Amino acid sequence: MALRAPDSPTVSKEARRIQSMFGAIAPVYDPLNHLLSLNIDQAWRRFAVRASLRPTDRRVLDVACGTGDLTAQLQRAASPGTQVVGVDFCEPMLRRAARKQPLPFLLADGLRLPFADRSFDLLTIGFGLRNMESFEAGLREMRRVLRPGGRLAILEFTTPSNPIIRAVYLLYFRRLLPAIGNLVSRSEAYGYLSRSVLEWPSPRELARILKRCGYRRVRHAELSLGIAVLHIAERAPR
Ligand SMILES: C[S@@+](CC[C@H](N)C(=O)[O-])C[C@H]1O[C@@H](n2cnc3c(N)ncnc32)[C@H](O)[C@@H]1O
Repeated sequence: MALRAPDSPTVSKEARRIQSMFGAIAPVYDPLNHLLSLNIDQAWRRFAVRASLRPTDRRVLDVACGTGDLTAQLQRAASPGTQVVGVDFCEPMLRRAARKQPLPFLLADGLRLPFADRSFDLLTIGFGLRNMESFEAGLREMRRVLRPGGRLAILEFTTPSNPIIRAVYLLYFRRLLPAIGNLVSRSEAYGYLSRSVLEWPSPRELARILKRCGYRRVRHAELSLGIAVLHIAERAPR
């Protein structure tokens, strides 16, 4: 059996394809997300903010912020004076973010962040890392802009390990979700979502990759029976 390296996906994540796919679904992204996840996605974002944000954080960056829901939750929970910035490389998603909340949203590639080294106390990325052309390059670039000791919080889908939950989940994820999502959005995005999640590394594997990319004190929490997972890691000093 051929083994695939974790960072060489079989699903194409070529940047322009990802940009145009999210551009096409931007108008329906929020309502479809809430519908297909039964609104649990907002609870996952709240959990990520509660678990990662500290009262002493002054500079916070939300990478691949999309329509800005996680960015907005960070801003609401942050101490007064904290600067929260969102970046994404898909303009239609960012335009929606900016319409919903008056925060700084920048059009930028997560693989080439327009910030100096060691600029941020906390970086978050919600359902974005999986879509990067090389997520290891993304992890290294995010490490560059984190101050030593700063934290990275990654919220992602994963495949549950419990065999019964996994069987139900696979049925939903392989069949129902792409069928409803592609029909409503009139794009192939939700077929892509299911394929990209199924080949995403397990939480343990991702923890190993984080350490290889210059992070330490990696911990993770599985959410909603292991459908989603939150990793929090600290930037190692060197
Ligand atoms: C599934 S959406 C997640 C949006 C948001 N974080 C949320 O919680 O709903 C994924 C986002 O990642 C963005 N993205 C993917 N690769 C990127 C990259 N290399 N640089 C910046 N944004 C990227 C896409 O444009 C899209 O808006």
